[in-house]
Amino acid sequence: MHVDVVVVGAGAAGMMCAHVAGQRGKRVAIIDHAEKLAEKIRISGGGRCNFTNLHAKPDNYLSNNPHFCRSALARFTVRDFIDLVERHGIGYHEKTLGQLFCDDSAQDIIDMLRNECEDAGVSWLMPCKIDKVERKTECFLLATSRGEISCDKLVIATGGLSIPQIGATGLGYDIARQFGLNVTPLAPGLVPLTFQPEDFAPYADLSGISFDAITQSGKARFREAILLTHRGLSGPAILQVSSYWKPGTHIHLDLFPDDSATEWLLTHRRSDMLLANLLAQRLPKRFATAFAETHQLNQPVKQLNEKQLKTLGEHLHSWSFKPSGTLGYKKAEVTLGGVDTNELSSKTMEAKKAPGLYFIGEVVDVTGWLGGFNFQWAWSSGHVCGQSV
Ligand code: FDA
Repeated sequence: MHVDVVVVGAGAAGMMCAHVAGQRGKRVAIIDHAEKLAEKIRISGGGRCNFTNLHAKPDNYLSNNPHFCRSALARFTVRDFIDLVERHGIGYHEKTLGQLFCDDSAQDIIDMLRNECEDAGVSWLMPCKIDKVERKTECFLLATSRGEISCDKLVIATGGLSIPQIGATGLGYDIARQFGLNVTPLAPGLVPLTFQPEDFAPYADLSGISFDAITQSGKARFREAILLTHRGLSGPAILQVSSYWKPGTHIHLDLFPDDSATEWLLTHRRSDMLLANLLAQRLPKRFATAFAETHQLNQPVKQLNEKQLKTLGEHLHSWSFKPSGTLGYKKAEVTLGGVDTNELSSKTMEAKKAPGLYFIGEVVDVTGWLGGFNFQWAWSSGHVCGQSV
């Protein structure tokens, strides 16, 4: 079988690219080893797929070259994807911070992309395993579980390493290396953080407690909810900061993000209340008790001196921990790093050293924040590639 374009990976970026190329009259085949189509879209956004973010801009992405994503995001915009969703009559709503979710189910997005591919005459090869990829003089040759397939253009859209239990593999990175392209270091991103049991002992029984805070690692700061877990911290603000955290460094949490904790404590300096009860006016009760007890200050506030209240105020604004690690790819939403953007054209996603070979979506060293940014990168990079192959 020979086609103009083979797309490997029928996920978000792959289906976007395949239908755009098909609509241009290209003969396109899309290959995926999974039994079920686009499992990552299906489980995304708690089953409702946070498919884009109204505020998506290059600053919301991590990459060795932060400017690389600019061109694709400008050429296939958030509005362009919303138009597609609206043309398919899919109901959606903004949840918070510009995050758009399906009203009903992520399956609506999968059906939309599958229908677009079918209308564009894309051939499906799935489940189909790829054993070997070779460059011949005129084409690429793929040895697969469904026989040999040759193509003029080969697009790799195999995604990242997160959630291996639903089919993530490192094939895309292997193909990049096979063709002499650099792959930047890979790590789990948007992932819960773990702590040494001894550091976290006072809080380990508070699993499930969640509240608003500012998290900070280096210059990166996020204000959203944090969630205490048995082994450490999760919740949107922690997932966000995890992508910036470097092993061996601390993360800092501001538990009092709206005003000065010290001033607030000092206004209550004559209170008879136990410190834990006072803190519980601003923090969940069980957390407030653990915090006061860890600081060995759980006594009537009027018994605490000014210095103690000031120190406590500072700690409320900078609760610092050195994570021992992360929960890894099993729990990560994305993979940081990937095919080095220096190797690719930002306009077409074609490899400079290997004409005819393209990389799109998460396999590329472009990682978005939590909140619909990763899908927007998949749509934008897939679309510009589909227009070029
Ligand atoms: P994607 O992972 O979508 O597709 C890759 C495809 O390649 C898969 O179909 C896979 O089977 C196939 N493949 C892999 N190896 C292969 C091989 N060896 N042979 C053949 N096929 C192979 N983002 C966001 O913006 N909003 C959200 O709400 C969420 N929510 C979310 C929840 C969870 C639990 C996770 C794990 C991730 C998210 N994300 C997200 C991230 C988002 O899902 C992710 O960034 C995109 O799906 C990436 O799109 P790609 O097309 O690059 O990869």
